[in-house]
Amino acid sequence: MTTLSPRDPEPTATAPTQRQVDTDSDITRVAGVAMPVLVSLLALVLMLGSALVLAFIFPDVGTSLNAALLGQKSFWYLTRASAFVSYGLLWWTMALGLTITNRMARAWPGGPTVSDIHEYASILGLVFGAIHALSLLGDQYIGFGLIQIFLPFASTDYQPFWVGLGQMAFYLMISVVFSFYLRPWIGGRAWRVIHYLSFGIFALALAHGIWSGSDSGSIWAQLFYAASGISLGALTIHRIQVSTRPAKRVVA
Ligand code: HEM
Repeated sequence: MTTLSPRDPEPTATAPTQRQVDTDSDITRVAGVAMPVLVSLLALVLMLGSALVLAFIFPDVGTSLNAALLGQKSFWYLTRASAFVSYGLLWWTMALGLTITNRMARAWPGGPTVSDIHEYASILGLVFGAIHALSLLGDQYIGFGLIQIFLPFASTDYQPFWVGLGQMAFYLMISVVFSFYLRPWIGGRAWRVIHYLSFGIFALALAHGIWSGSDSGSIWAQLFYAASGISLGALTIHRIQVSTRPAKRVVA
């Protein structure tokens, strides 16, 4: 039996035990991963659902929409749209990460906020990358099966090298996103090394998009690729400048 000394605080009915605290933080961590995945899937289902309803209610007014959503090309549209969303989220994740390390985020809206958005955007980018890859199953023109989608460089009938770069980017994205949750086990140093892979992932995704995408001939796609590449390059240079700048002397 344990005895309380007069200096020990009175145990209260509401004080959480260490085990409760651990369980709560585990739940928070799992919710942190599951929420953005659930929200993005729900948003996708809602978007597709409402578009389908509109296409059925207004078949004459929305003939082109109807054809786009229900016609043979629907999966092709889905794969291209989700490709750009995934690529955009990858760019956004990297840009936010760089504003944390080059300290721009401190000015606004603050490191912890940017860090949260950075983490969520990376998970969403992965979810849209998976939608992009899986929707190729329904694209009858390209005729991919699971092997061509998931085995790098196996898409022999369509741009195997450039599609392979996208597959590599996808697998590396999985490693970087999940390394965040493995950090307590793998340690900060290994985590940082894995995190540096992000620069390679962005380069792979950019080359993959430009050289395997059907939209690369459009001016809007070219502007998107150029703006995202140049802005990340500039943020990276600024990041290197900040880290190599000599520390300011503190005058006593
Ligand atoms: C298993 C992984 C992946 C596979 C099998 C794959 C496959 C493909 C294919 C076949 C295309 C050509 C689609 C077309 O234009 O008809 C494409 C385009 C594209 N992919 Fe991927 N991809 C993968 C991962 C990724 C990832 C992770 C990203 C972004 C982070 C990405 C971004 C893009 C972009 C931006 C395009 C250009 C779309 C367009 O021009 O319309 N892909 N991908």
